[in-house]
Amino acid sequence: MQIEIVKDYEALSKKAANIIASQIVLKPQGVIGLATGSTPVGTYKELIRMNKEGLISFSNITSFNLDEYYGLGADDDQSYHYFMNENLFNAIDIKKENIHIPNGKASDVGAECTRYENRIKEAGGIDLQLLGIGQNGHIGFNEPNENFEPLTHLVNLDSDTIKANARFFDSIEEVPTQAISMGVKTILSSRKILLLASGENKAEAMYKMIKGKVTPKLPASALQLHHDVVVIMDEAAASLL
Ligand code: GLP
Repeated sequence: MQIEIVKDYEALSKKAANIIASQIVLKPQGVIGLATGSTPVGTYKELIRMNKEGLISFSNITSFNLDEYYGLGADDDQSYHYFMNENLFNAIDIKKENIHIPNGKASDVGAECTRYENRIKEAGGIDLQLLGIGQNGHIGFNEPNENFEPLTHLVNLDSDTIKANARFFDSIEEVPTQAISMGVKTILSSRKILLLASGENKAEAMYKMIKGKVTPKLPASALQLHHDVVVIMDEAAASLL
C-alpha cells in the first residue's frame, strides 16, 4: 500500500486527479471505476478542468460505478446515476454508451448483478478503481459483515450508513435502505486501486484499514491483500496514524 498524506482536501483532489489523468494518458481506451460520495467531487472538478483544457480525453474511456441505491432510477435526483451526470459525466467528453452504473430500478436484481459482472469482464476488467471509504470502513456499499461478499450484490444498508448519507436527502426516511454494489472481489480484481479519505470522521476507519487485521467487519481492510493500492488522505483523516 502506497500511502500519501497531504495537507487538505484541495491537495488530495489535485493529487487524485493527477493519478487518474496519468492513467487516462497511458491508456486512453482504458476502463476506470468511479465512486460517489462527497470525497471525489473535488477530484472530478479537476478532471473536468483538465478535459476542458484538452489535457485528457474521456472519449475512449469506459467507466463502471461502484454502486447505486436500489429503487432509484437514473432520473431520480438522489440516485448515484444523477450524481455522476451532475458532477462529472455532463461536463466531460465521455460517450454515454461507455458509462456503466448498476440499474437501481432492475426488476430482477440477481440478473442485474450478473449482467454488471459480465459487462466488467467483457470490457477487459477495471484498470483503475477510485474508492472513498465510509465511516464504518465500507467500500462501495460493502458494509461490515461476517464474511466478504465477493461479487456485485444487493446490500441492506447499515443504519450508520443511512444516517451518514441522510445529509443528501430531505429526511432520513427518504434514504433508500438497499443498494446494488460491486463486491469485494470485484473491487480487488481492479488492476490498480486509488482510495481517498478526507476529514477527521474517517480517521478511525483509516487507522483500522491500514494497521488493523484483514476482516469483513472493516471491509476496506481487504485492500491490504491487493498489490497496487494508492491511498491519499488529508492530515485530518491521518490523525490517528
Ligand atoms: C457512500 C458510497 C461510498 C462512499 C461513502 C463515503 O456510502 N457508497 O462509495 O465512499 O459514501 O462518502 P463520503 O465521501 O461522502 O464521505
